[in-house]
Amino acid sequence: MQILTTPQQLAAQCRTWHKAGDDIALVPTMGYYHAGHEDLMAHARSLGKRLVVSLFVNPTQFGPDEDLAAYPRDSERDAAIAASHGADVLFMPEPGSMYEPDHATWVEVPDLAKGLCGQSRPVHFRGVCTVVLKLFMLSAADVAVFGQKDWQQQAIIRRMVRDLNLPVRIETRPTVREGDGLALSSRNVYLTPEERAQAPEIRQALLHAQSLVEEGETSASLLREAVLRRWAERLPVGRLDYLSIVHPESMVPLDKVDGPALMACAVRMGKARLIDNIVLR
Ligand code: PAJ
Repeated sequence: MQILTTPQQLAAQCRTWHKAGDDIALVPTMGYYHAGHEDLMAHARSLGKRLVVSLFVNPTQFGPDEDLAAYPRDSERDAAIAASHGADVLFMPEPGSMYEPDHATWVEVPDLAKGLCGQSRPVHFRGVCTVVLKLFMLSAADVAVFGQKDWQQQAIIRRMVRDLNLPVRIETRPTVREGDGLALSSRNVYLTPEERAQAPEIRQALLHAQSLVEEGETSASLLREAVLRRWAERLPVGRLDYLSIVHPESMVPLDKVDGPALMACAVRMGKARLIDNIVLR
């Protein structure tokens, strides 16, 4: 596995592979790998002759009061994990090589980015889209793999790809979880033992909502209330950021669950902000 650190190196290597007829699979990440990242790598490995993994804690997707400086990092361990999944390249650029001091060009999908996570993180998806488009162009990836844990992110990226006719296929993988249902996240390291003990209730309540839908409930407000009632009892350390029911592709809020529907949430627990989602229908 080569470790490349500049955009120029990545572009040159991927151009060479393309000329040789090799197809390229890309897994964009911010590192501190867990089994969710590993699943994306293992899947991507099977999709292309060449596997590029990027590890970049992208500063532009963090707001001024967010955890950019504190974001957990362990690049040596991450490099060993990427290598063990057969990555041909681990791309680890310095922020200065990805963003000039007067960087001024942004890619946005505002209709899909204004709700859910976008509400409390107004510049987040603009940073995500911009860096992901850069990675798509530098790697000239044929396919890129994302996780359903960040459902809104993959929906936005799919829309960006469609709207800009980008020649890359997007694949999405199911969320990898702990045995008790908590979605794996690099940010779970922020949880205190008390918070960690309550955190699985995030998933439990979403499963409860899904079972209510299976029993015939269609009112989005009643489903929300059922989840919030459970959390008030069983997740007292959590502070709600949002709990929404939306169309899974357009991210438009729904009043009735009578077609495709996604329930998505973010809950703050101490220093952590945990997100999860479930397809209701
Ligand atoms: P990061 O949080 O490191 O996540 C990298 C990829 O791993 C994303 O596609 C995310 O959805 C996926 N992932 C995270 N937790 C997962 C889990 N428990 N199961 C399955 N997949 C999971 O998402 C980002 O980085 C960044 O926003 C990025 C796309 C790299 C742009 O900077």
